[in-house]
Amino acid sequence: MPSGHLKNIGPSQLKIAIIGTGYVGLVSGVCLSDFGHDVACVDKDETKIARLKAGEVPIYEPGLDALLSRNVAAGRLSFTTQIAEAMAGAEAVFIAVGTPSRRGDGHADLSFVFAAAEEVAAALDGYAVVVTKSTVPVGTNRKLADIIRKARPDADFDVASNPEFLREGAAIEDFMRPDRVVIGAETDRAKEVMTQIYRPLYLRDFPIVCTGLESAELIKYAANAFLATKISFINEIAALCERVGADVKAVANGMGLDGRIGSKFLHAGPGYGGSCFPKDTLALARIGQELAVPQRITETVIAVNDGVKRRMVQKAQDLCGGIVAGRKITVLGATFKPNTDDMRESPSLTIVPSLIGAGAQVHIVDPQGRREGESLLPGVIWEDDPYSAAAESELLIVLTEWNEFRALDLKRIAQGMRTPRLADFRNIYDRKTATDAGFVAYDGVGR
Ligand code: UGA
Repeated sequence: MPSGHLKNIGPSQLKIAIIGTGYVGLVSGVCLSDFGHDVACVDKDETKIARLKAGEVPIYEPGLDALLSRNVAAGRLSFTTQIAEAMAGAEAVFIAVGTPSRRGDGHADLSFVFAAAEEVAAALDGYAVVVTKSTVPVGTNRKLADIIRKARPDADFDVASNPEFLREGAAIEDFMRPDRVVIGAETDRAKEVMTQIYRPLYLRDFPIVCTGLESAELIKYAANAFLATKISFINEIAALCERVGADVKAVANGMGLDGRIGSKFLHAGPGYGGSCFPKDTLALARIGQELAVPQRITETVIAVNDGVKRRMVQKAQDLCGGIVAGRKITVLGATFKPNTDDMRESPSLTIVPSLIGAGAQVHIVDPQGRREGESLLPGVIWEDDPYSAAAESELLIVLTEWNEFRALDLKRIAQGMRTPRLADFRNIYDRKTATDAGFVAYDGVGR
């Protein structure tokens, strides 16, 4: 797309419909309305829509509720269960429904995307760009176009791929100040609409990468798989550090200062989790297998990550002299990372049940995880305060690096414990600090 031309496009408010009010759909809808567009978010879930209409945000994402209220009040953002209502006059329709891993084979389950396409086809009136925000395998956008064309041979539309790169907990910042916006579109008309949508970002010089459909689809998987690779790589190096007496933080720092490597996503820990890396690495591996172009690095990254979680269980057991049965263990953090209530694929879901299975009595403190975590982690005692939770326990595990766990009075914690041992799986403390505070045993990751 000729960039000189783009800067000349005038301001224009578009009418946009967003299908699916999950993480990506809701954040995109709220942020696009903040750009000045007229946005209608659609979801089948009536309770969710009723809550959103009442200004209640169903997920925990810093800043989202205020932004939502502001744009609702400005009359730019609305919520409905009726797709036709949202799509009336819309120039762009974003499909942002879930693509979970299909049970059994790890492929992305596209049934929600295809069902949404059928409904979009039925509701199309006048030209619109059907934009896929959900992470979908290569080829899906073309299939989507086929589905719509078959259902409505008369429809005037284009498809576009517009993958999302936002991180939970930093979603608004990531949407408003992205490293780049990726747009896969193949007609001038579709490119023009997409450019208008992201005009506020373009004017502030955030890079807009325009590609064909397949490239845009693959950029998303390749980016997530690469980030997951960095994490698995440093986690393997961490295990080696422990064996040779090196400190993984120093190694990561020394590596990351090389501009070609970069320091981000080189934090060793209990393994990556969340709704994206586990699902997308699995899907990429499956795509490769299906097309006989095996993605061996990604396959290994998945296996390494599974092993890392199990290694944490072993470390906890070793700290307790091999026996956790009958012991009280306090775990700080259950969500897959801080600033989210999301428990999906969290390392806690592997580590905690293993400890309980081995006979430990596990108490957990998490600022946001309890609501989701209670049903996922049966047998756990949930507490609110790290100090009272740690009292009388024989091992304290830091599993998620919430800010509230970063500056604990370790001396006070150690005094309350039956046997003060610290498993610092996010490396937020160090051996000396822990020992000075009275801990008799300390273990981090790769130190
Ligand atoms: C990730 C990507 O970072 C986003 O760019 C992408 O848009 C998103 O997936 C998605 O596909 O929708 P997210 O899953 O929210 O975002 O979280 P991250 O901050 O990337 O963290 C993922 C996991 O990796 C967490 O469990 C985190 O603890 C772990 N991690 C991250 C590490 O163990 N070490 C690191 O150095 C960084």
